[in-house]
Amino acid sequence: MLICKNICKAYDDGNTKVSILNNLNLEIKSGESISIIGASGSGKSTLLHVLSSLDRADSGDIILDNLFLSEINENELCKIRLRKIGFIYQFHHLINELTVKENIALPLMIDKKNKSEISSSVNKVIEQVDLKKRENFQIEKLSGGERQRVAIARSIVHDPKIIFADEPTGNLDKNNARNIFALLNDLANYNKSSLLMATHDLDIASKLNKSLILENGTLIEGNI
Ligand SMILES: Nc1ncnc2c1ncn2[C@@H]1O[C@H](COP(=O)(O)OP(=O)(O)OP(=O)(O)O)[C@@H](O)[C@H]1O
Ligand SMILES: [Mg+2]
Repeated sequence: MLICKNICKAYDDGNTKVSILNNLNLEIKSGESISIIGASGSGKSTLLHVLSSLDRADSGDIILDNLFLSEINENELCKIRLRKIGFIYQFHHLINELTVKENIALPLMIDKKNKSEISSSVNKVIEQVDLKKRENFQIEKLSGGERQRVAIARSIVHDPKIIFADEPTGNLDKNNARNIFALLNDLANYNKSSLLMATHDLDIASKLNKSLILENGTLIEGNI
């Protein structure tokens, strides 16, 4: 489903190059869920951005659904992001000026789906994340957990093949974190989407099919 081979990514801090991902390899099968753990600054967000094509690797291959992402242009990449990939950011990145419903509809609107298709997909996921009563609320009037539920809904509304979640429970209290994780995991299973999730929470990490540790730019098997 997603294979990456020898991924390298470095940041240039002016004088020197700082290597963040160093010949990293990973394979995630269809429907599989994997957690990525690692110290702050180890490169978890960088890895998720590169794999989801929000950012480009310096070298290496990323193959999503038999497509070599490094070989396709920005326009095609944009379509793939809109159709095959869901992303939940570390700090949800919702648009405050839009309502819950409008935020969730965004990927479908950008992909120019027709109105009835947008409406039925949005209504379905709003029910799934239990936000029907809040559908016309502005984002700034929502609690942290509710915002994260909107972000989850937005990441799955287009039925992606793979969901990348960057510490989706990082800013929530323990109870809320458990609930949000369970919701995300259930929805990924229900949609048969693969799930790649960065987290600092070992308890949550252990509930996915596999755990990997990001250390010195590569992934090693976790034993948690
Ligand atoms: N655009 C950038 N330019 C330069 N350095 C960057 C850039 N983005 C990230 N870095 C550096 O790359 C390293 C990895 O950052 P990243 O955000 O991927 O870590 P992380 O594992 O997600 O950390 P956290 O657990 O705190 O979210 C950090 O040292 C960071 O300062
Ligand atoms: Mg991060």
